[in-house]
Amino acid sequence: MRNGLALVIGWLAVIAQGCGSPVQEAVGYCASQAARTLETVPSPDRMPNCVEAGSSEWKYVSPGGWTSGFWPGELWYLYESTGDAKWKDAAGKATETMLPVAYQTPHSHDVGFMVMPSIGHAYRLTGEDRYREALVSAADSLATLYNPKVGTILSWPGMVQKMDWPHNTIIDNMLNLELLFWVAENCSRPDLYDIAFRHSETTMEHQFREDGSTCHVVVYDPETGEELAKHTHQGWKDESMWARGQAWAIYGFTMAYRFTRDERFLKTAVRATDTYLSRLPEDGIPFWDFEAGEQLEDQPKDASAAAIVASALLELQGYLPVAEAKRYRSEAEKTIRILSAAPYRAGDQCSAFLLHSTGHMPRGNEVDASISYADYYYLESLVRLQRLERGEKAIPNN
Ligand code: GLY
Repeated sequence: MRNGLALVIGWLAVIAQGCGSPVQEAVGYCASQAARTLETVPSPDRMPNCVEAGSSEWKYVSPGGWTSGFWPGELWYLYESTGDAKWKDAAGKATETMLPVAYQTPHSHDVGFMVMPSIGHAYRLTGEDRYREALVSAADSLATLYNPKVGTILSWPGMVQKMDWPHNTIIDNMLNLELLFWVAENCSRPDLYDIAFRHSETTMEHQFREDGSTCHVVVYDPETGEELAKHTHQGWKDESMWARGQAWAIYGFTMAYRFTRDERFLKTAVRATDTYLSRLPEDGIPFWDFEAGEQLEDQPKDASAAAIVASALLELQGYLPVAEAKRYRSEAEKTIRILSAAPYRAGDQCSAFLLHSTGHMPRGNEVDASISYADYYYLESLVRLQRLERGEKAIPNN
């Protein structure tokens, strides 16, 4: 691992080379990597998804795969950040292929993951009505998975029979509430606000442990709402802290506070953050699970969790008093610096932005790989930092 001094020297060298601020340099790096990727994408409906460890070739996913929104989202952020019309053109073409997803019966909670980075940014940056209509349809579709007796969305209908998890909710599901909250606020839909609010409350009550860590899956009785069991699916074991799950909790409750201003959600985000930060390994990037076996130092890292947390903290700091805000912003900037250098920067190894993320360790899928959502949240954190450096809010109007 590159030590702190080398990191600072590298960072200063960038400035000395006249490339502007480190954040500008990092955005420029993302743009040049994405330009390389764009040249190899076979068609706008093939979304770069993952580059396995040791490979330099992207594997692709089609619209409807849970990660399919992230590549269009990267293209929209590059357009927003650089103003270059070539990104708008590519983003528009990729997003066009995502529109049917908004009108489909949902296979899982992942609707928000797919449509907010793609269609959500498309609407934000173009104002075209058809994007807004698609978001309303997607939100209505996601809402069909809500069970009012439990007070949460059924995350994985496919696991009801397969795992005998009659009503299951995963911590990742928090991210999909952004779609419901957004449509509620922008399209006068209080019914969707109520679903997202109640889901956040139920998750806060059931998914957190005493120490502020989260479990991945909670199974409920769909008729009584009673909690039946806590499990993991992508973590080490039911009781451990899966790194990306914790990152989703931090990001999700920060976002829930943005829309609700409910202090309990803010406290939940802060508690989840402090637990995460206090257990990070020395280089500041988590292993895929915080308790994955005795030889933790031999386990693969998950840079995606670090990128998600960095982006979330840049929002969270804006809701906190000065001292805490400073601390969280500094943690986010530190993480971004670490991700922006070896061994996490992909550079010539492949055209992704980052290396060393882990998708699904128990299945052996995407282990120590480059993954589109790591790149997406890394770029999002850079865009948020650019806004802060311009004296704006990390999230416009919040
Ligand atoms: N939401 C799925 C994952 O984080 O792997």
